[in-house]
Amino acid sequence: MNQPEASAQAPAPRTGDVVMRASGLVKRYGNVVAIRESDFEIRAGEVLAVVGDNGAGKSSLIKALSGALVPDAGTIELDGRPVRFHGPRDARAAGIETVYQTLAVAPQMDIATNLFLGRPLRRPGLLGSGLRMLDHKKMRSQAAEQLDRLGIATIQDITQLVGTLSGGQRQAVAVARAAMFGTRLIIMDEPTAALGVRESRQVLDLIARIRDRGMPVILVSHDMPQVFEIADRIHVHRLGRRAAVVTPKSCTMTEVVGLMTGALQMTADGTLLESTTQHMPEEKPASPHASESAE
Ligand SMILES: Nc1ncnc2c1ncn2[C@@H]1O[C@H](COP(=O)(O)OP(=O)(O)OP(=O)(O)O)[C@@H](O)[C@H]1O
Ligand SMILES: [Mg+2]
Repeated sequence: MNQPEASAQAPAPRTGDVVMRASGLVKRYGNVVAIRESDFEIRAGEVLAVVGDNGAGKSSLIKALSGALVPDAGTIELDGRPVRFHGPRDARAAGIETVYQTLAVAPQMDIATNLFLGRPLRRPGLLGSGLRMLDHKKMRSQAAEQLDRLGIATIQDITQLVGTLSGGQRQAVAVARAAMFGTRLIIMDEPTAALGVRESRQVLDLIARIRDRGMPVILVSHDMPQVFEIADRIHVHRLGRRAAVVTPKSCTMTEVVGLMTGALQMTADGTLLESTTQHMPEEKPASPHASESAE
């Protein structure tokens, strides 16, 4: 079902249509509220950057969208229809692929095997049983095609073990895998965090190409110049919820940092105001000893 051709043949989404929307998401870990009635929206044809301070809840938010965690409350819609993901498998079946910050590649396997990890191509079942042989040849040729399509030119040998690739090439394989199977949405949590300048450049170019092929991308990133270069819109996350949505054209980097730290606030009509007070009722962190006393 999840053949790689599917993503190539997916109907071109209309730019601007909402692909995924979440409302009122909540996720608690004991006394810690990681997501606090957060809203979220990504539209077709865009790279949506998600920025925020450490611990703001960005990873928790995208985990809720990718099925890696089940929110305690709130709703998620995909193409206008309510969805409930009980695990990453459900989200993948719906066409949502995620590249996590901690690289999920198998270093001791070759590139093609990595691209098809968990979803290998098999030869037609001659025996009419479950004993269908893996189709290595087809996987290699499709892997080569995919790298080619995405313009990943630095990988010279498709049979190379992933463990022998550079960090950037390895990340490119993870992104290529997501692009291969993602039919609705690709989510990336800090894909360039561990990479050098040149390797980050390659991954950024790759993200732009994926977007230009019509696939919306959620990009969690701390790197403001990177965000301003590639994002169409910027979702600013603060204290577990969406604090603002801006565009690189409508805001400066300093203003986005102000929204991240709470020095600036956005009003309902989109005006930026300097915060007169840093104190908000929901801002008060739980007592660090609360969980101990609960035991
Ligand atoms: N499994 C967990 N158990 C307990 N608390 C958690 C867990 N995962 C996240 N948290 C807490 O939830 C909050 C949000 O964490 P999250 O990882 O979503 O933040 P983030 O914005 O991705 O941060 P960073 O920029 O550092 O990656 C933090 O206070 C964190 O300590
Ligand atoms: Mg995170």
